[in-house]
Amino acid sequence: MPARVVTVAQQKGGAGKTTLLVQLATAFAARGHKVAVVDIDPQGTLANWMRLREHGRRDVPELHFAMVGGWRLAVTLDRLERLVEFVFVDTPPHAESETKGAIRRADLVLVPAQPSPADLWAAATTFELARKENRRACLIWVRLPARGRVREEAKAEAARQGWPMAAAGLGNRQDYVSSFARGLGVIEAEPRSAAAAEVRALASELASLLGS
Ligand SMILES: Nc1ncnc2c1ncn2[C@@H]1O[C@H](COP(=O)(O)OP(=O)(O)OP(=O)(O)O)[C@@H](O)[C@H]1O
Ligand SMILES: [Mg+2]
Repeated sequence: MPARVVTVAQQKGGAGKTTLLVQLATAFAARGHKVAVVDIDPQGTLANWMRLREHGRRDVPELHFAMVGGWRLAVTLDRLERLVEFVFVDTPPHAESETKGAIRRADLVLVPAQPSPADLWAAATTFELARKENRRACLIWVRLPARGRVREEAKAEAARQGWPMAAAGLGNRQDYVSSFARGLGVIEAEPRSAAAAEVRALASELASLLGS
């Protein structure tokens, strides 16, 4: 099977892009896949997480990593696609031209959104970019409350927009923050937690969407 590129994009800052990416990358690695992660965000949040991961030198799967300016992404992806099965690309907020290149190369664009109007307005821009590039995009709910009006209204709005949504999502959980701080995914740091169960469910849903 050719390598699959998954780009995480959402122009709203702090929406949960990098958190979602490291959880999925570690989950796909735990499923036995070879995985690479690529940071094209000059903030370097993913690069910092990788540094923590490498310093820990624990018995966790190796992830290939590259940090590149968006203009060098194509060459980097050509190289990584020969080494791994899945490449996850993290993008910056507010940088349309670079993000566009990452969307163009994606087999699947993931758009994390908290159930709030601000996140959904920003998500619309990313869905539009994906549509123009003829790429498949899927909304992933993050920090979604287990129930209540906010949740139902946000889901109804996304459905009105006609956006595909993953059934599984990530709740608002400290385990995501604490595993990140250790250079790990929750599946590695807290394998029996509710957070790990959410991530496993999402990874398995996305794996079938990606045909693996
Ligand atoms: N599901 C979650 N539960 C709890 N905290 C979360 C969750 N997702 C993200 N966070 C926290 O929210 C903050 C922003 O998350 P993150 O860095 O992943 O967003 P981002 O979209 O990558 O931000 P940026 O646009 O700056 O790149 C971080 O402090 C992170 O720990
Ligand atoms: Mg980020």
